[in-house]
Amino acid sequence: SNMLDWQRTAFHFQPKKNWMNDPNGPVFYKGWYHLFYQYHPDAPVWGKIVWGHAVSKDLINWRHLPIAMETDQWYDEQGVWTGSATILPDGQLVVLYTGSTNESVQVQNLAYPADPSDPLLIKWVKYPGNPVLVPPPGIDTKDFRDPTTAWKTPEGKWRITIGSKINKTGISLVYDTEDFKTFELLDGLLHAVPGTGMWECVDFYPVSKQNENGLDTSVDGPGVKHVVKASMDDDRNDYYAIGTYDAHKGKWTPDNPTLDVGIGLRYDYGIYYASKTFYDQSKQRRVLWSWIKETDTEASDINKGWASLMGVPRTIVLDKKTQSNIIQWPVEEINRLRTNMTVFKNIVVEAGSIVPLSIPAASQLDIVAEFEIDEKTVNRLNGDDVGYDCVKNGGAAERGALGPFGFSVLATEGLKEHTPVYFYVAKGVDGNLQTFFCADQARSSTANDVDKSIYGSIVPVLKGEKLSMRILVDHSIVESFAQEGRTCITSRVYPTKTINNNARLFLFNNATATKVTASINVWQMNSAHI
Ligand code: FRU
Repeated sequence: SNMLDWQRTAFHFQPKKNWMNDPNGPVFYKGWYHLFYQYHPDAPVWGKIVWGHAVSKDLINWRHLPIAMETDQWYDEQGVWTGSATILPDGQLVVLYTGSTNESVQVQNLAYPADPSDPLLIKWVKYPGNPVLVPPPGIDTKDFRDPTTAWKTPEGKWRITIGSKINKTGISLVYDTEDFKTFELLDGLLHAVPGTGMWECVDFYPVSKQNENGLDTSVDGPGVKHVVKASMDDDRNDYYAIGTYDAHKGKWTPDNPTLDVGIGLRYDYGIYYASKTFYDQSKQRRVLWSWIKETDTEASDINKGWASLMGVPRTIVLDKKTQSNIIQWPVEEINRLRTNMTVFKNIVVEAGSIVPLSIPAASQLDIVAEFEIDEKTVNRLNGDDVGYDCVKNGGAAERGALGPFGFSVLATEGLKEHTPVYFYVAKGVDGNLQTFFCADQARSSTANDVDKSIYGSIVPVLKGEKLSMRILVDHSIVESFAQEGRTCITSRVYPTKTINNNARLFLFNNATATKVTASINVWQMNSAHI
C-alpha cells in the first residue's frame, strides 16, 4: 500500500483509482441513486474521458459499476463528456451528453438505458442518429457543451440549455424538443453576462419561495424563483444567481443585476467546480453534486494513483429569510455516520487564546458549533470601514478586535500543521457588524508543493441570529458551512504529520478585544462503504 493512502477519504465518493472530474446525469431511478462521472480509466490525470458509474441506496454508501459509456463512436471518440439525465412522464430515462468527435468538435448526443427494467442501469445504448445537435452558426466548435436536464415549456415541449460564449461573453443557448432527437434553437438566450468567458456545466432549476422542499425541474409559477448556475472556465469557480424565468421567451433575468451569474455569489468559496443538481423525487429535495479537484501536484496524483473526489451531496433551498441567496446543507443521511459525540458547552475563549478540544481522533469529524462575541466589547469599540477580505487579508494570523475565531482542524499538537476555519467580525462606522467566513490553508501542510490559499467571503447574519458553523473533516478535505449553509468553503489539504490518529482539533480566538463563547458538538465519523 501507498504512503499517501491515508489521504484517501472515508465518506467522500471517489473511484477506486485514476482520474475523475464532473458529476454526470445524477438521478434517482427505481430505488437507486445513480452517479455517473467523468472518468479517465487509464491514469490519475485527465485524458480520454468515459462515464464512470456508481449506485447507492442512501447517497453515502456506494457500489461501483462498470463503465456506462465508452469512447466508441466517431461522435464521442475524443471523450464522452458531461451530460444530464431527464426522467420522462412514463418513467423512462434519457441522457444527453457532449461528445468530443474524432475531429474534437463538441456535439450533443442522446443515450438511453438498454433495459429500462434494470434498476442498476448497467447497459446504455447510444441513439443511432447521433449527434442530435452540432454547434450552431456563430458558435465555435469547441464552445458548445454540457446539456442540462430538460424541463417542460408552457406548450408541453421539452427545453434544455447549453453553455457557450461569444467573444468574452458567457452565454446559455436554449433548445426546444419533443423527442430529444430533433431540436429547435430559440432566437433569444436564457442569459448572457459580458466578460465572464465560457460557461461550462450550466444548471437551471426552480426553488420554492415558501417551502423547504425541493422542486422538480419543470415546476414553475408565482411561488417559484429560478437559479442559474454556470461553471466559469476562466476562473474555475461555480457561480449562481437567483432570478425570474419567462417561460414564453425562454429567458431568465437576475433579481439583482449587480449579483449576476459570474460576478456575484458562488456556491462555495473554496475548491468546487462543475457541479450539478438533480431532483430527488423520493425525498422531494434538490441535491447538489460537485467535483472537488486536487490542489497538490500532478506528480503527487500519479504517486497516489487517484485524483479528485465528490463533495458530500448537499440539499439546496432558497434562503427564506434573506430571499437573496440559496442555502446548502449536507444531505441528512450523512448524519448516520456520526458516532462518539463530545459536547463542549459555553466554553469561554479569551482574546488571543487557544483551547485544545479533547477528542479521541480527529481525521473524520462532523463539528457543529455556535459562537457569541462579547456585546459589551462590541458596544465600546469604534467602528471603521476598512474593508475586510478573507482572501486579501492575512488569514487566521492577522488579528482584529472581533476576530478571527473558530477551529483549527487537521492540526498537529504544536500547530506545525493546521487548517483554521473561522469567522471574522468587523464593525462599521454605522455601528453595524459584518461577518466573514474564511479558511486558511497557509499552514495546512509542511509540504511546499500544495496550494496554500486563503478562501472565504462575507456571510449574512440576521438580527437575533447566533454565529454558527458546521465543518466536515475527512482526511484531505474540509467542507465548511456558515449560518446553516449561506456561505460554504471546501478546502483540499495535505497535512503530512496528522496521519492516522495524530490529528487534533483546537478552538481558537485570535481577536485582540472580544472574548468568544462557544458551544460545540463534535462527532467522530464512521467510514462509508465506497
Ligand atoms: C468541466 C468540463 C466540461 C466538459 C468536461 C470534460 O470540468 O470541462 O465542460 O464536458 O469537463 O471532461
